[in-house]
Amino acid sequence: MEIRNSLWYTITMKTEILEMRDASFSEEDMQRAGELIRNGELVAFPTETVYGLGGDALNKDASGKIYAAKGRPSDNPLIVHIAEFSALERIVKSVPKKAKQLAEAFWPGPLTMCFYKSDVVPDETTGGLPTVGVRMPNHPVALGFIKAAGGYIAAPSANTSGRPSPTLAEHVYEDMNGRIPLILDGGAVGIGIESTIVDFTGEQISILRPGYITKEMLEEVLGEEVVVDPAVNGVSKDAKPKAPGMKYRHYAPKAELYIVEGRTPTQVAEKMAELAKQALATGKRCGIMITEENFTAFSGLKAEEGLILKSLGHEGDESSVAKALYRVLREFDEEQVDIIYSEGFGESGVGQAVMNRLIRAAGHKIIREASYNEEKG
Ligand code: TXA
Ligand code: MG
Repeated sequence: MEIRNSLWYTITMKTEILEMRDASFSEEDMQRAGELIRNGELVAFPTETVYGLGGDALNKDASGKIYAAKGRPSDNPLIVHIAEFSALERIVKSVPKKAKQLAEAFWPGPLTMCFYKSDVVPDETTGGLPTVGVRMPNHPVALGFIKAAGGYIAAPSANTSGRPSPTLAEHVYEDMNGRIPLILDGGAVGIGIESTIVDFTGEQISILRPGYITKEMLEEVLGEEVVVDPAVNGVSKDAKPKAPGMKYRHYAPKAELYIVEGRTPTQVAEKMAELAKQALATGKRCGIMITEENFTAFSGLKAEEGLILKSLGHEGDESSVAKALYRVLREFDEEQVDIIYSEGFGESGVGQAVMNRLIRAAGHKIIREASYNEEKG
């Protein structure tokens, strides 16, 4: 028997990147990726949400390698990715009718559903839980890869535990170089934040993690109310999240991150400029995350050393913010800023998922512009 510990991996493995941009890949390359998985190795791959770190979901040793490569607590379950609806039956006890409706409406797509697992799924894959989260990603490279690998890929986001999820193959390389043999490079992902997780193992259908598929979209298909797990935003200390991953600090940049909220985008931008000025005056390097439309508030400051402005997409377009968020957080880490101020965003549509990630990245630190406070009482 071969025993390899994670340290051995860290220092000796060469990580190769195979380019598969614009959904074009050779059958030969895909077979190679599939073979690595069938041999119990790990391969990172693109999905429409974020990059995944894939291993054979039905092989407990492969799941163990995933936890080691990410430095992830082993009680945090992995999502199993499939490429065909018919693959679902083998890994779960049963599929409720309502889940079939959601699959019909949203698969392939950014929706994970949790069911009671069958015995073929090892406990190592589900972090010891009797349930399994399953998703069919909407990305040609992901679907081709899952099929070539035998149909069941366990994959968390391909970042080191605690860092922002990867939205580019370069991000995966930053975190996984030396730890895995292969990364499939599909270019930039389309959505930029992780899938919505819906639970079918409780009394009510509930959302365990918000994502691109919103509560309203789910309710429209189901024709009934969907509850949101009270622990989703991690505000209450008593609420124990049903998705174990939601209890860990996530998406955290190295700098102190504050969200700035106010009555109008202009007032927020002005408040942020004032805060930036104060930070620069004390010798801090300051990062600003703001939609492009509000850059003008900083025009008087641009020349100052230590101020870095980054565009988080466009005002009123939360999808563009979702797409930029993790990349911008990673860039600020690289540029070693001390403090970051981010605009807050609307909570409609995908904005809810964006704010969920941002609030957690900020560790709930929110600054409210004065007139906003007065208005809210
Ligand atoms: O979009 C996504 O979902 C990406 C891509 C790669 O598919 N994956 C992803 O995986 O975000 P990860 O491991 O970073 O996050 C999975 C989350 C964790 O919070 C975990 O606790 C939860 O899903 N989860 C997985 N299986 C679960 C289960 N059986 N019951 C409750 N929560 C579960
Ligand atoms: Mg993750």
